[in-house]
Parts: sequence; structure tokens; C-alpha cells
Amino acid sequence: MKTILILGATSGMAQAAAQQFAQEKFNLILAGRDLEELEALARDLEIRYEVQVRVEAFDALAYDTHPAFFETCAKEGTLAGLVLAYGYMADQKQAQARFAESKRMIEVNYLSAVSILEQAASYFKEQRSGFICVISSVAGDRGRQSNYLYGSSKGALTVYLQGLRNRLNAAGVQVLTVKPGFVDTKMTYGQQGMFLVAKPQQIARDISRAVQKKKHTLYTPSFWALIMLIIKMVPETIFKRLKL
Ligand SMILES: NC(=O)c1ccc[n+]([C@@H]2O[C@H](COP(=O)([O-])OP(=O)(O)OC[C@H]3O[C@@H](n4cnc5c(N)ncnc54)[C@H](OP(=O)(O)O)[C@@H]3O)[C@@H](O)[C@H]2O)c1
Repeated sequence: MKTILILGATSGMAQAAAQQFAQEKFNLILAGRDLEELEALARDLEIRYEVQVRVEAFDALAYDTHPAFFETCAKEGTLAGLVLAYGYMADQKQAQARFAESKRMIEVNYLSAVSILEQAASYFKEQRSGFICVISSVAGDRGRQSNYLYGSSKGALTVYLQGLRNRLNAAGVQVLTVKPGFVDTKMTYGQQGMFLVAKPQQIARDISRAVQKKKHTLYTPSFWALIMLIIKMVPETIFKRLKL
């Protein structure tokens, strides 16, 4: 059986994705900071779906540890794919006032992804198969005053993934950029002004289908593709005046 590596496996969307892939009989490596929670998730998945689930410590900001971490994950058997599901969203106003918060978003959402995905890219390129699935955001499609600090970190990630996809295409490696709208997880708990909020399970089903169909970009739920198309079409001279 093939194995999928999930980075940030305690996240709401990652947990749903882990369940989805376990149901499809993939073995899993759950990676993250909270080993106690990861062990509990792993044992639950093993019992419910009769798959093998391993836990590995992973801190996105511990860049120096990334090469050894990836080597450990890849050493026992073939990796069918990777799901990068961690992220950080600070309050926009707080991030405007405190650079440390903006820096943390840029580091967690973008810089660390470059560090770990370059390791993964070499592995999958050599293997000439597999998928790299990364959760970006619709927030990265256009900068808005209410969340441009988070949005720009996701926008950078989206552009990085375009380049990575272009690089790995000839090797038959799929690079899937996932752009969810609002999703009901810890990240958005208590947040004001959300609409059309989706459940993590719906995102997970969409991710699985997009991996199977070898898609490059997934707006999830799918109506966000239309919403973002309209938002991207508004001319900047008008957009800059809007309170968004
Ligand atoms: N929720 C939404 O509405 C929404 C919409 C669009 C995109 N997204 C994106 O979707 C992804 C998943 O989000 P979610 O809502 O499922 O998140 P979540 O439940 O709030 O979980 C965030 C995850 O990121 C992990 N994390 C943060 N900093 C880390 C670090 N330095 N090293 C390793 N892990 C770290 C956390 O680990 P710990 O458990 O150790 O804290 C946690 O597992 C994120 O990239 C997010 O930006 C979310």
C-alpha cells in the first residue's frame, strides 16, 4: 500500500483529508508539532480504517530540520503524495501594528513551504510519480484591506506552486493548488463576516477527487471559482475604493 505524508496534520482540513485518504486505503504519515494529538489521531485512523499510520515531528519554522525530516519520511517505501495543510492567520489589524505577526504569516505560509517543498520536489521528480497538494487560499487571488497580510503570503505561495508545477510536469508529478473559501476550523473560529462557510469534510472530498483527476487548481467549494473570477475582473481603479 502507498503512503501519503500530511504536513500540519492536526489542522481541521488535514484531519478530514487524513480520514478521506485512510478510507481510500492509503497508509499515512501524520506530521506536526503536537505529537500527543497526532498519536491519538493515528490510532483512531488505524482502528477505523485498518491502515498503517505513523507520526513524525515537524515544525514548519525549523528549517534546518527539514532535509532530515523528509528523508525519514521517504525512507520506508514509496510516497504516493504529500498534503501541506498547515498555516497561520493573524488578525489583520494586529499584524499591521506588529511586524512579528506579519513575519510569522510570511514564514509559516510561504517561506517554510519553499523549504520543505523543495525537498519533496527532488524526491518526486526522481521517482517520476506522485502528487504535491498544498492548501493555499482564495485570499491569495487578490489583495483586500481586511486581510492583505495573510492574503499576500498565500498569493506568494500560489505563484511558487505555479512554478513548481511547471518544473515537475515533465516528470509526471502533479502539483495541486487548493484554494478554499471560508472553512469551519480552529483558524476561523469566532471570526466575523464569514459567509458560505464549508465543512472540512467537503474540502477533503474535493481534494481527493482533484488528486484523482490530476487537476492543477481546486477552488473548494467550487462556487468560489466564479466568485473569485468576478472579484479578479473588477478594475483596480474601482477595486481600490471598495471596503473589502
Ligand atoms: N479555515 C479557513 O477558512 C481557510 C480558508 C482558506 C485557506 N485556509 C488554509 O488552509 C490550511 C488549513 O487550515 P485550517 O483552517 O484547517 O487550520 P487550523 O485547523 O487552524 O490548523 C492550523 C494548523 O497549522 C499548524 N501550524 C501552524 N504553525 C505551524 C508550524 N510552525 N509548524 C507546523 N505546523 C504549524 C497547526 O499546528 P498545531 O496544532 O501544532 O498548532 C495546525 O495544525 C491553512 O494553510 C490555512 O491557511 C484556511
